[in-house]
Amino acid sequence: MPILTGHARLAGIIGWPVAHSRSPRLHGFWLERYAIDGAYVPLAIRPEDFVPAVRGLLAAGFVGANVTSPHKRAAFTLCDSVDPSAQRAGAVNTLVFSDGKIAGSNTDGWGFLANLRAHGVDPAAGPALLLGAGGAARAVAAALLGEGIGVTIANRTSEHAHALAHDLPDLRVIPWERRSDALPDHALLVNATSLGMQGHPPLQLDLVRATPNLAVADIVYVPLETPLLSAATAHGLRAVEGLGMLLYQAVPGFRAWFGVEPEVDAALRRFVAADLLPG
Ligand SMILES: NC(=O)c1ccc[n+]([C@@H]2O[C@H](COP(=O)([O-])OP(=O)(O)OC[C@H]3O[C@@H](n4cnc5c(N)ncnc54)[C@H](OP(=O)(O)O)[C@@H]3O)[C@@H](O)[C@H]2O)c1
Repeated sequence: MPILTGHARLAGIIGWPVAHSRSPRLHGFWLERYAIDGAYVPLAIRPEDFVPAVRGLLAAGFVGANVTSPHKRAAFTLCDSVDPSAQRAGAVNTLVFSDGKIAGSNTDGWGFLANLRAHGVDPAAGPALLLGAGGAARAVAAALLGEGIGVTIANRTSEHAHALAHDLPDLRVIPWERRSDALPDHALLVNATSLGMQGHPPLQLDLVRATPNLAVADIVYVPLETPLLSAATAHGLRAVEGLGMLLYQAVPGFRAWFGVEPEVDAALRRFVAADLLPG
């Protein structure tokens, strides 16, 4: 742990709850690797306290913060300015404080795309089939559409899919029950539901219908290898795990707060993954 001086830069992650967050471990790894005079701490803030807490961090000289559930929409409203990534996603996960102002961005979509590319998957190879319509699906959909990639969405609750398509008009919505039938028309499948996550049922999908060049990305990262990713590998398809998205989404914030472009590499992945393994 680097020794802090009076000049230490301070950042953290705001959530409620926040104890499950791996972000302090992730940023802590980089702070130590780059011997930075700074700290990144968990900040458990109730929804009703969110706005005064952020203003307090600003007043206390923090350089910024990550924002996680349930505050990402509130953060969007609070910011003095938001960049196009946040504008498209309608939510903010990264706050940068500068000259008394709060700038917001959403790095989830960027992290998703960076992770795909790190796995040798070109998102522009063809249209994407996106499962889910929650906060993460919104960020992924916005990022893919922002790259000019066609996106079809399927979600258990069709009203949620249509609400997303209302905000992102280029989205094509299909019924949840048609997800397996739609596979042959897509080059990328993304699970952005919580299905397959520890404690949740697995995603039911018939990968037999996939074409051999389909890439399968799961943004769920607990467990690291979800039933969907195991099935994709068993079918000879390229599988992209969700942990990389978490690692990459942290890069822009760290760079803005601590002035170093951090590297996502095998040592970082091992360190964060060690905290996800059972037992
Ligand atoms: N890798 C990363 O960096 C990263 C980042 C963010 C999130 N995530 C993961 O992504 C997952 C979704 O997160 P989120 O923030 O988007 O959650 P969320 O806003 O609560 O959305 C959950 C989504 O899962 C669907 N769902 C839940 N249970 C289902 C079921 N039994 N059958 C079918 N669909 C179901 C919901 O459908 P309905 O609309 O029908 O409820 C909704 O589309 C979580 O596992 C989270 O850990 C990963």
